[in-house]
Amino acid sequence: MSVIKDRFSLEGRVAIVSGASKGIGKAIARGLAEQGASVIISSRKQEAVDEVAAEFKKEGLEATGIACHVGDEAQLKNLVDRTIDVYGGIDILVNNAATNPVFGPLDQMTGEVFDKVMNVNVKACMLLGNLCKPSMAARGHGSVINIASVEGVKPSPMMSIYSVSKAALIMLTQSQAREWGSENIRANAICPGLIQTKFSAALWQNEQVLNHFVDQLPVGRMAQPEEMVGLALYLASDAASYSTGGVFAADGGYLVG
Ligand SMILES: NC(=O)c1ccc[n+]([C@@H]2O[C@H](COP(=O)([O-])OP(=O)(O)OC[C@H]3O[C@@H](n4cnc5c(N)ncnc54)[C@H](OP(=O)(O)O)[C@@H]3O)[C@@H](O)[C@H]2O)c1
Repeated sequence: MSVIKDRFSLEGRVAIVSGASKGIGKAIARGLAEQGASVIISSRKQEAVDEVAAEFKKEGLEATGIACHVGDEAQLKNLVDRTIDVYGGIDILVNNAATNPVFGPLDQMTGEVFDKVMNVNVKACMLLGNLCKPSMAARGHGSVINIASVEGVKPSPMMSIYSVSKAALIMLTQSQAREWGSENIRANAICPGLIQTKFSAALWQNEQVLNHFVDQLPVGRMAQPEEMVGLALYLASDAASYSTGGVFAADGGYLVG
């Protein structure tokens, strides 16, 4: 009989993944569902989330698409209410949706850009966490996984406001862990390095820029979204019952490079 393997199981658990129509969010959502969770696929367009949910269902996984722009508080509330209607509660929240609308030097950033980035990358994660917390507390456990970035630890040029937002997200994670631990709700941050998705296309589509990044990496390559999943599955599961307030890099060694 397995003692440890069962602690990785997510059978009977319910997860919300924001920004799950593609990229890292979709890969994590698939992993959670493969481990037995019922998963809410969420992003801005209903058609896109329905498509992913249908794809998962065809593979025998349990998923439902609920559209939500995370920058809209009413839509966040609707996401949580509908999740509870459909699956009865929430055990796992993956705050994955984010924006980085402008690459450029800090002294050219406007207040408008700052507000937009902080609204989506930080405020939405706080609000969604707060909305999920009562259900997690009622179920006696919860796992919040905030997808931050190595940028939140070590800023790159031209990505300043994004880096500020991810540093704030790391501190939000630690505050959630500090305040919610007594209710058995854990919160951890994952800091991906360079992952090949639409979001990071500006960094890998240009060979010169890509080589500049990859040359700094101990592993000498960027990652695929699936390479972020193992860490998320660990943090979502009871195997991580003593892990909270953690900041986990999945970065090919970028932060030590
Ligand atoms: N890729 C990297 O190299 C990298 C590195 C470090 C950290 N990260 C972080 O990883 C996370 C996922 O990024 P990714 O690379 O997987 O990006 P991606 O492939 O572009 O996917 C982003 C997802 O977020 C959704 N989304 C965007 N804005 C949204 C909003 N306002 N409300 C709700 N959903 C929204 C998108 O769907 P719709 O457009 O249909 O809404 C999509 O499902 C982000 O937090 C990012 O900061 C990425």
